[in-house]
Amino acid sequence: MQKLTIKNNPELPYAVEEALNRLRINISFLGKDIKKIMVVSTNPNEGKSFVAMQLWRQMAEAGTKSILIDADLRKSIMTEKYGMSLESGEKINGTSYVLANDIPFSNSLFHTDIADGDILPNSDNVVNPSMLLENQRFEELLDYTKDNYRYTFIDSPPLDLVSDGERIGSLCDGAILVVRGGVTSKSMVKHSVMQLERAGCPLLGIILNRVEGSKGGYYYKKYGGKYYGGHYGKYYSGDSYYYGKKKA
Ligand SMILES: Nc1ncnc2c1ncn2[C@@H]1O[C@H](COP(=O)(O)OP(=O)(O)OP(=O)(O)O)[C@@H](O)[C@H]1O
Ligand SMILES: [Mg+2]
Repeated sequence: MQKLTIKNNPELPYAVEEALNRLRINISFLGKDIKKIMVVSTNPNEGKSFVAMQLWRQMAEAGTKSILIDADLRKSIMTEKYGMSLESGEKINGTSYVLANDIPFSNSLFHTDIADGDILPNSDNVVNPSMLLENQRFEELLDYTKDNYRYTFIDSPPLDLVSDGERIGSLCDGAILVVRGGVTSKSMVKHSVMQLERAGCPLLGIILNRVEGSKGGYYYKKYGGKYYGGHYGKYYSGDSYYYGKKKA
C-alpha cells in the first residue's frame, strides 16, 4: 500500500474541534453494526467533505482504524484542496480509477501519516459516474473496507441533483446529514431525509454546519445547534444533534 501525504491540514478553532470530538464519541455509541457511514447533504457546499475529512481524522487519531472514501466522482477537489501527493511521486489513482479497473483493493488504498487512517481520494472526475457507482465493484469496495476497517466514512455528492447519493446510501449502514445553517430550507432537509429513507439508509444524525452570525436562526430551534460564534467571530462552527436514542 502506498503512502499518501496530506500537506494542508486546517487549524480548527477549539469549538469546532470539540464539536467533532463529540460527534466521534456519539458515533462510537451507535454500536458495532454501524461501520459504513455516508456523509451527505442536500445541496453543494454545505460542508460534507470538511466534516467527512475531519471526522475520519479524529477517529483515526483516536486509534480507531478508519478509511475515508471520496465518492464524489463528479467534482471532487479533495486532492488539490488538502495538498495530497504520493510519497513515490506517482500520480494518485483515486476512486474512479479503482472502480473502473480490475485491481486488488488491498493495493488501491493509501496509508497516510496517521497510523490508523487510510484514504482513497478521487483524483479524476468523471462526467457520468452513475455507472461506476451502480456497478457491483463499488459494493465490493465497501465490503472490503467493512471487513478491514472499523469505520468507512464516505464523502458523497449532494442529494439534490443526481441519484448518486441514494445509490451510495443504499450500501451504507447510516448517513450523517450536513445542513448549512441559515441556508438550507426545512423542506429541502425533509426531502433529503425522505430520499435517505427511500434508499434504506438510516439517518444517524444531523450536523448544523457553517453557522455564522446571530443565535436567532430557525435551525437553532429546530435542530438544537449550539452557538459558538463569539470567540472566533464569523468563522464556521459545527455541532451535532442525534435523532432517536442517541443525543449529543
Ligand atoms: N465547519 C467548518 N469550519 C471551517 N470551514 C468549513 C466548515 N465547513 C465547511 N467549511 C469550508 O467550506 C467550504 C465548503 O465545504 P465543503 O467543500 O466541505 O462542502 P461540500 O458540501 O463537500 O461541497 P460540495 O458539494 O461542492 O462537495 C470549504 O472551503 C470548507 O473548507
Ligand atoms: Mg465535497
